[in-house]
Amino acid sequence: EKEGYPHFMLKEILEQPTALRNTLKDRIQGDRVNLDYLNITPEYLKGLRSISIVACGTAYHAGLIGKELIEGLLRIPVEVSVASEFRYRNPLVDEKTLVIVVSQSGETADTLAALRESKRRGAKVLAITNVKGSSVAREADFMFHTVAGPEIAVASTKAYTTQLLGFYLLTLYFGQLLGKEMPKELYSGLKELPVLAQKVINETEKRIESLIKPFEGWGDCFFIGRSLDWHVAEEGALKLKEISYIHAEAYAAGELKHGTLALIEKDIPVIALATQLDVYEKTISNIKEVKAREGYVIALVQEGDTETAKSVDQVLEIPKVPSLLTPILTVLPLQLISYHVAVARGCDVDKPRNLAKSVTVE
Ligand code: M6R
Repeated sequence: EKEGYPHFMLKEILEQPTALRNTLKDRIQGDRVNLDYLNITPEYLKGLRSISIVACGTAYHAGLIGKELIEGLLRIPVEVSVASEFRYRNPLVDEKTLVIVVSQSGETADTLAALRESKRRGAKVLAITNVKGSSVAREADFMFHTVAGPEIAVASTKAYTTQLLGFYLLTLYFGQLLGKEMPKELYSGLKELPVLAQKVINETEKRIESLIKPFEGWGDCFFIGRSLDWHVAEEGALKLKEISYIHAEAYAAGELKHGTLALIEKDIPVIALATQLDVYEKTISNIKEVKAREGYVIALVQEGDTETAKSVDQVLEIPKVPSLLTPILTVLPLQLISYHVAVARGCDVDKPRNLAKSVTVE
């Protein structure tokens, strides 16, 4: 039930601190992640040549971040595929590949078919799913349960942030099994996320009127960022188009000059994520390119960044965390902005036109 909220989507956005807390519960002990119940052995991990992540929609976007984490921290090559492509492509998958399927419902037809195809080729499959008894959960060799609780709104929100959390925990756990040194600050950082997520939600809600104003009267907008910020931008764009029917595109900020910049015109809304410190200067220079064409820029930055504010129209700060952990926080304002823009446009937020919650047919 909606428990007094006007829409399931809003309820589910606001439930994220709790969903994160529940998904973390008992899984970090001191500075160790404990997923021993998976029964994955160091020998098995050492024998892997690659990891293949397969999913659809928002779950695919979580996979893009998963790739960065696994490749960055474990140095194992990772491929990320949308399931509808993977299953018809003769993928490079065999017994030396771990396939990770990500699915909130665990019933998405293409994802399930990809799981079966992977097993047929001899790979083991790890499922990250929100529904314990789902087909994906039952047929996978290993299962990571995202404890988000039921997600009813078609637009996926708390499933995404808990899927991300799943990737953090799995990566750290695999690192431990492989005897690799994992960054200590990630363990403490992950534990703080529920509280920080609440902070970001509160801050965004306070300012929501001014944050959605620039979208008035627009049928197009852009999301830009580099590295992890780019992948979150992709999720932000999907959210906005799916429920508000505004055409939204996400671009790797460095790609602007290779085409998209031609579409930037006066006052067009551009949400720019600039939280990845290793590419910060580069992102800022892309933001300036947008401003030079008079786009309206809302920037998401880490706390303490006074530089960006000088070049943009609005800034929203997220609390300072290691750059690797920002996605769980930066996506929250994007979800809330999408939600409120859609409401302002009179859209049927929980049941957008043409879409179903679970795509069980091709
Ligand atoms: O249940 P699944 O995670 O397998 O669903 C995948 C996509 O259909 C889903 O994430 C879809 O993209 C959402 N409507 C996005 O908000």
